[in-house]
Amino acid sequence: MKILAIETSCDETAIALVEAKGRLPAGRQGLNNPHFKILKNLVASQIKIHRPFGGVVPNLAKREHLKNLPILFKKLQTTRYKIQDTNLIAVTVGPGLEPCLWVGINFVPTLLKILRGRDADRSVGAKKIPVIGASHLEGHLYSNLLSPKISIAFPAVALIISGGHTILLLMRDLTHYKKLGETRDDAVGECFDKVARLLGLPYPGGPEIERLAKYGNPIAINFPRPMINQKNYDFSFSGLKTALFYYLRDNKNVKIKDVAASFQTAAFDTLISKTLRAAKEYKAKSILISGGVAANKTLQRQFKSIVKSQLSNVNFFVPPKKLCTDNAAMIAAAGYINHLRNKNHRLRARGNLTLK
Ligand code: KG4
Ligand code: ZN
Repeated sequence: MKILAIETSCDETAIALVEAKGRLPAGRQGLNNPHFKILKNLVASQIKIHRPFGGVVPNLAKREHLKNLPILFKKLQTTRYKIQDTNLIAVTVGPGLEPCLWVGINFVPTLLKILRGRDADRSVGAKKIPVIGASHLEGHLYSNLLSPKISIAFPAVALIISGGHTILLLMRDLTHYKKLGETRDDAVGECFDKVARLLGLPYPGGPEIERLAKYGNPIAINFPRPMINQKNYDFSFSGLKTALFYYLRDNKNVKIKDVAASFQTAAFDTLISKTLRAAKEYKAKSILISGGVAANKTLQRQFKSIVKSQLSNVNFFVPPKKLCTDNAAMIAAAGYINHLRNKNHRLRARGNLTLK
């Protein structure tokens, strides 16, 4: 099945063409071997537009999506892949910025018209292409499936870490999961972005802090790890950001590379410690991480090494960098799985869509 997917929930305009295989076994106990081949994964980043404002400006983001979506689609049409035989369209309906989500959703009728060709206006003979409303969070969750030859053993513990979310899930199989915990205030990516601002670094803060932290001492400053010792699986990052604010106010001669490195240590300690505790408690066979913050190589290294030393028979999965940050290939994966399950979100932008 060929899937054409659209993602416009925040500040990346993205279109992807993905080939998907796999089916639901009897009883629907999860999916049998879903396999994805990314044919094209196009992303138009708006970072330069939002950078002067230190964060995403919704109206500017909407304007850029309106401008970039047809450009990306034209680009897709000029590749060697035929789009006329698309079997499914997947579009992000939430969570995200509603004006931006609407741009993607409103592009679908245009797409259908182009894909169905001359028959589009006639009821007889027109090819029916189903349209699936996909969750951005399920996109991140399933982004690990986009790696070739992937095979995930269950139960699994999945950590979604992005600019908008920090969620820990227990997955009984691919399609049955429950939330173990989430952030009670800022998402970890949001915390990276705010801390970067305090350090005078440009938006988005995550990659900037990672770059600077490479030269700093990760144990120079002992920043707090809020909620790390609490028995639940919730997170909190706003206290860490505040602690860093006061530290900078009271320590004028500090090296910012040490602040960046020590901040990363504190943020990652909490993420890793809670994920590992959940993996032990629920006897997980796999740990999956996804979302923009998962692109951080230091976090990946720390996760890999601690999983290897403490849970040697647990497999650790992280998507390649391009699939950690927002993209439409992950929306194709989420759309395909929902299509097989006959699960569909209405084609209506929902800023606060939650994982169910
Ligand atoms: O998943 P994503 O692209 O968009 C959302 O769904 O939010 O995540 C963006 C977030 C931003 O907060 C960004 O600073 C963070 O991911 N990020 C990183 C890194 N790359 C992106 N955080 C830490 N280290 C990175 N290398
Ligand atoms: Zn995202």
